[in-house]
Amino acid sequence: MRLAIFGATGRSGRVIVEQSLQLGHQVTALARKPENVPHHEHLRAVAGDVCDPAPVARTVADADVVISALGRRRRGPSICTEGMRVILAAMASDGPRRLIALSNYGVAETRHRSLFVAVSWLLERSVLRDKEDMEAAIRAGDTEWTLIRPPVLTDGPRTKRYHTGVELRLTVGSRVSRADLAAFTLSAAEDNTYVRQGVAIAY
Ligand SMILES: NC(=O)c1ccc[n+]([C@@H]2O[C@H](COP(=O)([O-])OP(=O)(O)OC[C@H]3O[C@@H](n4cnc5c(N)ncnc54)[C@H](OP(=O)(O)O)[C@@H]3O)[C@@H](O)[C@H]2O)c1
Repeated sequence: MRLAIFGATGRSGRVIVEQSLQLGHQVTALARKPENVPHHEHLRAVAGDVCDPAPVARTVADADVVISALGRRRRGPSICTEGMRVILAAMASDGPRRLIALSNYGVAETRHRSLFVAVSWLLERSVLRDKEDMEAAIRAGDTEWTLIRPPVLTDGPRTKRYHTGVELRLTVGSRVSRADLAAFTLSAAEDNTYVRQGVAIAY
């Protein structure tokens, strides 16, 4: 597959890129610092900011699937929302239709009354707000989207022993490694099980 990856230099995005290349996919990665993207014959780095339409359009142009591992710092712009609007506009003008975006548990239909959700909103309010707005923008478009809702991420190994599900309930103790998150992200890119759905993942 030809994958367009945003957030490729992040802690999760780097693992998604690594596993994509191991699987033999062709990757185009947008990066503000392209020198932080690995050199590989099947990887093309596009220099730029996700809020800049021209490099975003070049990134998605030939892709089959778009993957967003964008993230924002607690203080900083709502980059997931702002960036996603630019990505969606690029996809709408003759781009690919399949979109996989890393989001958070505790927003939209998963904003349950639970300790985990309450603590998440207490500690990460601006991050979760950004994700709610990002999700609203995605749902308003006509891409074939899947939102992935991880719990706390770890740098542990790939175990393949994770569970996923639309109804999967995450708790304060839920965890998944970035390696397993990346593996699930790439498997979601290859099938349509969770199209137009948010799916949680955890051990
Ligand atoms: N960490 C957790 O435990 C956790 C739990 C649940 C969900 N999540 C979600 O999972 C996603 C990935 O998390 P992470 O920890 O891997 O994120 P991260 O390490 O903070 O990476 C964020 C990525 O977004 C890129 N980015 C930010 N602003 C950009 C801009 N203006 N233009 C282009 N790229 C930009 C960063 O690029 P630069 O390298 O240039 O900064 C980086 O590649 C996030 O959405 C996060 O909220 C994380």
